[in-house]
Amino acid sequence: MKDQLLELKMKALKELESVSERSDLEKLRQQYLGRKGLLALLLKKLTALPKEERPVIGKLANQVKEELHKQFQFVSDSLTAKAVESESAFDVTLPGRRIPLGHLHPITKTTEEICTIFSTLGFRVVEGPEVELDYYNFEALNMPKDHPARDIQDTFYVSDTVVLRTHTSPMQIRIMESQSPPVSIIAPGKVYRPDSDVSHTPMFHQVEGLLVDKGITFGDLKGTLTTFIHQIFAHDTKLRFRTGFFPFTEPSAEVDIQCVICKGAGCRTCSYTGWIEILGSGMVDPEVFKAVGYDPENVSGFAFGMGVERIAMLKSGLDDIRLFFENDIRFLQQF
Ligand code: PHE
Repeated sequence: MKDQLLELKMKALKELESVSERSDLEKLRQQYLGRKGLLALLLKKLTALPKEERPVIGKLANQVKEELHKQFQFVSDSLTAKAVESESAFDVTLPGRRIPLGHLHPITKTTEEICTIFSTLGFRVVEGPEVELDYYNFEALNMPKDHPARDIQDTFYVSDTVVLRTHTSPMQIRIMESQSPPVSIIAPGKVYRPDSDVSHTPMFHQVEGLLVDKGITFGDLKGTLTTFIHQIFAHDTKLRFRTGFFPFTEPSAEVDIQCVICKGAGCRTCSYTGWIEILGSGMVDPEVFKAVGYDPENVSGFAFGMGVERIAMLKSGLDDIRLFFENDIRFLQQF
């Protein structure tokens, strides 16, 4: 029986040498090591042996089995390695992997939409610094040193004379300082205020607008903003101009649109008034013209400023501004 075992091993190893296909390897494995294979058959005869011989032959049978297993594994591994090396390992008919495509952030998209509308109305898009001089952010806009808007509660101070801009209005001054009338610009960008709740984030976005020329009237302001609102929302959006106050415009008006959620019936979003404020505006105050060296007797103009988040929220029916800045991909993918 010992000879039979050794012969079986030699035969198996010999046949293994000529294997080049995985299917042949599996056949051979079944033939020798399978449950009904040659080795199993041989081992059945073990019981017929005299008692003393059984452990000796049994041990040898185990060694043969182990060695054959090892050799089969070795051949199997080298077949795998060969297959990986040759091209046949790739299934060229498999579909390719999709590369996920991103898109612009909803705030960027809304900003671009606003800018496009004003560009077609003849406004030029300009940008300026977010870290701003107190002079441009407050002083030149008719907010002197003791003005309440300068409160530490309302402003991030970098130093006594430098602030994170609290609105985009300093761009009015920068532009008028650098060119003479006529002027028509819009200035999108980030602004900062120490505020944080469902409708406020410490950083948000505004778009400023300024138009100065000879003979500009409040009618121009109303016409321009009405056209804008009808384009950014719907062509039949109802709006109203409500008296307001800003230190740098006189007279000033806040513009409300009829609540897009409840269509004016009254709901949580509009605090049950049916109206939602979307921008501040007014005729440029003569004090501001004086600060930049324009002659208020000679030119007039209007300015306006709007919050981009507010407009984006109204357009998409959202009620929590913080969603825009959490960068939750499940939220962003909906736009
Ligand atoms: N800067 C004002 C604000 O942030 C908005 C505004 C801009 C009002 C221009 C009038 C004219 O509230």
